[in-house]
Amino acid sequence: MTSYQLLFAAFALASGLTASAQVNEMAVDVKKPGAAIQPTMYGLFFEDINYGADGGLYAELVKNRSFEFPQRLMAWKTFGTVEVLSDGPFERNPHYIRLSGPGHAHKHTGVENEGYFGMGVKQGEAYRFSVWARIAQDAPAPSKIRVELVKPNSSSEWHALAAQELTVDAKGWKKYQLTLTPAATEAKATLRIFLTSPVPVDLEHISLFPEGTWKGHENGLRKDLAQALADVKPGVLRFPGGCIVEGTDLATRYDWKKTVGPVENRPLNENRWHYTFPHRFYPDYYQSGGLGFYEFFLLSEEIGAEPLPVISCGLACQFQNNHPEAHVPVADLAPYIQDALDLVEFANGDEHSTWGKVRAEMGHPAPFNLKLIAIGNEQWGAEYPERLEPFIKAIRKAYPNIKIIGSSGPGSEGEQFDYLWPEMKRLNVDLVDEHFYRPESWFLSQGTRYDGYDRKGPKVFAGEYACHGKGKKWNHFHASLLEAAFMTGLERNADVVHMATYAPLFAHVEGWQWRPDMIWFDNLNVVRTTSYYVQQLYALNKGSHVLPLTMSQKPVAGGENQNGLFASAAWEERDNTVIVKVVNTSGKPQPISVSFAGLKKKETLTGSACVKLSTGDVDKDNTLEHPLAITPQESPLSISGSTLSATIEPYTFAVYKLVKAAGK
Ligand code: AHR
Repeated sequence: MTSYQLLFAAFALASGLTASAQVNEMAVDVKKPGAAIQPTMYGLFFEDINYGADGGLYAELVKNRSFEFPQRLMAWKTFGTVEVLSDGPFERNPHYIRLSGPGHAHKHTGVENEGYFGMGVKQGEAYRFSVWARIAQDAPAPSKIRVELVKPNSSSEWHALAAQELTVDAKGWKKYQLTLTPAATEAKATLRIFLTSPVPVDLEHISLFPEGTWKGHENGLRKDLAQALADVKPGVLRFPGGCIVEGTDLATRYDWKKTVGPVENRPLNENRWHYTFPHRFYPDYYQSGGLGFYEFFLLSEEIGAEPLPVISCGLACQFQNNHPEAHVPVADLAPYIQDALDLVEFANGDEHSTWGKVRAEMGHPAPFNLKLIAIGNEQWGAEYPERLEPFIKAIRKAYPNIKIIGSSGPGSEGEQFDYLWPEMKRLNVDLVDEHFYRPESWFLSQGTRYDGYDRKGPKVFAGEYACHGKGKKWNHFHASLLEAAFMTGLERNADVVHMATYAPLFAHVEGWQWRPDMIWFDNLNVVRTTSYYVQQLYALNKGSHVLPLTMSQKPVAGGENQNGLFASAAWEERDNTVIVKVVNTSGKPQPISVSFAGLKKKETLTGSACVKLSTGDVDKDNTLEHPLAITPQESPLSISGSTLSATIEPYTFAVYKLVKAAGK
């Protein structure tokens, strides 16, 4: 129980309040399970924003590892004689550095990488340093470097947390590696490399990864962050954006083909979020492509989510650049359409097909079984449907079973929304992606949003949503509570809403551009916000079918005389459980009684558990200092006969779980 719940219980006892307040009488009919709730219903949306990929989920600790940032030595300090050369071994990343000896035992040449806001390293854990190197031409063998993890501003005598020598023994390019094991935990270490012999050396693709990545993959993901995703048990993973897909211009759109194959040869791309908001400007924000489409597919598979790639429809980000030059003429779309077809082949083709072979060579001969693809992100105007149409024709022809997702634009309603929905129907897309970043009043008013949607048209994908709250775009409990309330309406309408993903997913506390976000992190720690827990509670307690739940014959959606309550109910076929979700958005305790009608003769319903998410201060959320301040609390649940009676505390999201048994 939270301190608030304890206080409330004491208050309720003293005042006899639970006995006297008006009871909100709800009814659930368990006899006729309604629409199936799709396995994809509750998922995740990953965008490469807020240092969510490089500097975040992607476990690489070195920034600008291939010296391809426009300022070639960005993120690197140099000392002694360091040159940048451009005829390296990787065609698409040709730059590398040459360290030359100063010819004096007490003078040093070297480089030092700052990482992403420093490098987070943990005491006793192994870090794999790797580098492509050669003895600089015409020099005698061998050359030596010392590789160190350095503690910043250390007052101790010895700065290095770990140090190893590496001998470069060949004149040709070769990959070398060694292991560094830090003697202490440090959030802001740097990586320093000294030339320790007089023989000059060339270095390229300098990399440092924890050996303990998620599932141990070499080009892997940060374990704690990936685990947070897995713990949601998401049904779908949408990636890699968001506006990042579109680019600020066509040249910087997210081109999936540049993110597969050997990491050393994946070209750098600009991250459009580095300059999107001048008040949060990150001039060193680029995309290494190290977390690319192969890694996204693999992650989806490993967390049990259907992969949902989003690709460019030939329009750059219309917010940023709606200039005709940033629109591919419809007649020239062929290469973009081919990218979509090739992506399906990359995911699903057999290992002898052109792109299936690329996937197999990367380590996954079996297909990823892609079923969904989104064309375009938040596009608008006639320029969108006229581009989407030829994509749809080509995909339907080649891959009739792939479901295609179109967009209703950037707004939750309004002119573009009203124009694009009929267009999406006309084009017969399978799902329409709706986005809403809206204030509290909007979320409170949208409980019945989907009740009147056309059941015969495309299905809904609520692809990006978050409650901003009090006009301020920050994570706090009240916003997540209203998200929970809104989601009862998604669940109740599961016949038309097939997928929903909160957004965005990750944010580095020192490098964010957009908030609220579901998961915050620094270089060593992760914080699951209350919005995270709302999503997780829905995903873990999804149910397989909707059950009708009403109060005075009406859906419970914060309406008149409903006392700020929102509710939905579901049945889970697998274990014959009944799940009731109730959100009390009011500042008052609300007694509820839920009667379950339609039980068969001898069938019984037993209380199993009640899980609540609540706090005394709705302006608070979990923080780095107190990551577990507000978490779901589980308690046993008992019911009397076929009626559940309970009191739901102010500002509380409750999930009641009951088991249906055949009886004797
Ligand atoms: O998630 C942040 C941005 O919000 C996404 O890139 C875009 O789709 C939406 O406007």
